[in-house]
Amino acid sequence: MVTRMRASPRPPRKIKPRYRPQAARRERILAHIGEGVAVIPTAAEKTRSRDTTYPYRFDSDFWYLTAFPEPDAVLVLAGGRSILFCREKDATREVWEGFRHGPKAAKEVFGFDAAFPISSLETRLPRLLADRPALWHALGQDSENDARVIRALNAARGMSRTDRRAPALLCDLQQTLDAMRRVKDAAELALMRQAAGIATAGHLRAMRACRPGMFEHELEAELGYEFRRRGAAGHAYAPIVAGGGNACVLHYTANDKRLPDAGLALIDAGCEVQGYAADISRTFPVNGRFSAAQKDCYEIVLAAQAAAVAAIRPGAGFDAPHMAAVRVLTQGMADLRLLSGTVDGLVESGAYQRFYMHRTGHWLGLDVHDAGDYRQGKAWVPLEADMTLTVEPGLYIRPAADVPEHLHNMGIRIEDDVVVTKQGCQVYTHAPRTVAEIEEVMQERD
Ligand code: GLY
Ligand code: MN
Ligand code: MN
Repeated sequence: MVTRMRASPRPPRKIKPRYRPQAARRERILAHIGEGVAVIPTAAEKTRSRDTTYPYRFDSDFWYLTAFPEPDAVLVLAGGRSILFCREKDATREVWEGFRHGPKAAKEVFGFDAAFPISSLETRLPRLLADRPALWHALGQDSENDARVIRALNAARGMSRTDRRAPALLCDLQQTLDAMRRVKDAAELALMRQAAGIATAGHLRAMRACRPGMFEHELEAELGYEFRRRGAAGHAYAPIVAGGGNACVLHYTANDKRLPDAGLALIDAGCEVQGYAADISRTFPVNGRFSAAQKDCYEIVLAAQAAAVAAIRPGAGFDAPHMAAVRVLTQGMADLRLLSGTVDGLVESGAYQRFYMHRTGHWLGLDVHDAGDYRQGKAWVPLEADMTLTVEPGLYIRPAADVPEHLHNMGIRIEDDVVVTKQGCQVYTHAPRTVAEIEEVMQERD
């Protein structure tokens, strides 16, 4: 037997403007699951060493639907209602660890229909599952959470003697959430622009601070200082500050070597603002002036980025900017005598991958490599207005006998963040990008 449920209500009027986007997202999930029930836990605190934990970071899906910042919380969506389970107030723990909302305040502040202590989840969840046709959960993300949900499901199954039925269908909520998160709403786009502005300021500061003789970690410190000074939570991912050949290691994060006086520095860093990431890469000469060889290589990557940006518009496949960048980069590799052959042939054979081995971008949002598929069956996902992605071509030339020596250890990446618009796209990160812009900023150094 399936109980009748009232239709999804509008968000209650009491919801504060700040939390309306989350309420609207919950309504979309409620409409999608119909008479089903969805369980969305946040992330657990993680031990760093012995008795200290990593700085807490909420689960992105839970945050997307609640903006509730505390650990030990679970959102349940059922019968048109949003129900939060969270920690109770605890005067002693709050002295040590800080403020807890507690269920009563959480319900009021964040606009839930009901809120209960997390300690009651074990007893309440089976009753919330009972008589719902389907249970929606992102199975496979976290084994502890999966176990908790399955325990509740088994408890609901145990209620059959009381004439109540457990859900017969288990549905993957992850795909639903991923598809939603791939297209940003206005509130998300505003936060992403804010993150981009702060990340841009960090890159500018690092460029201005850079001097021959400095260490990579000194530039990393400039970025972190600017991010925190401007109110970002910190880095959205481990920053890459790579001098010279270190830039040819794609995920170099040691950041502990001296910058080469006449070499390039590659910085790939972005901050996080209310959960949303910026992701910017810039490459610039440590001494403030590009050499002829550095400029030749840099201009190729810049042209590849422009070609990729020009390929971004609604209806184009996700792969379109990548293929546009690959063609320009491959032509550049031929011009630099790194490869010989036709562009078509070198692209077809994949020969270009020796010097450009990653893809040109990824979705960007609450996760730096954000939620959402890239393919639909065999086809690439078509771009839609309000999707956000990075455009980050690069060129990485490791020393080798068949590589002209003046190009050795050149590692370049230029990465910007882009929102798809109705007509095309808009690049919304604005750190100095051209050779002239970079040299100008670096000449401003005292
Ligand atoms: N910083 C990671 C990336 O650019 O994808
Ligand atoms: Mn990126
Ligand atoms: Mn990056």
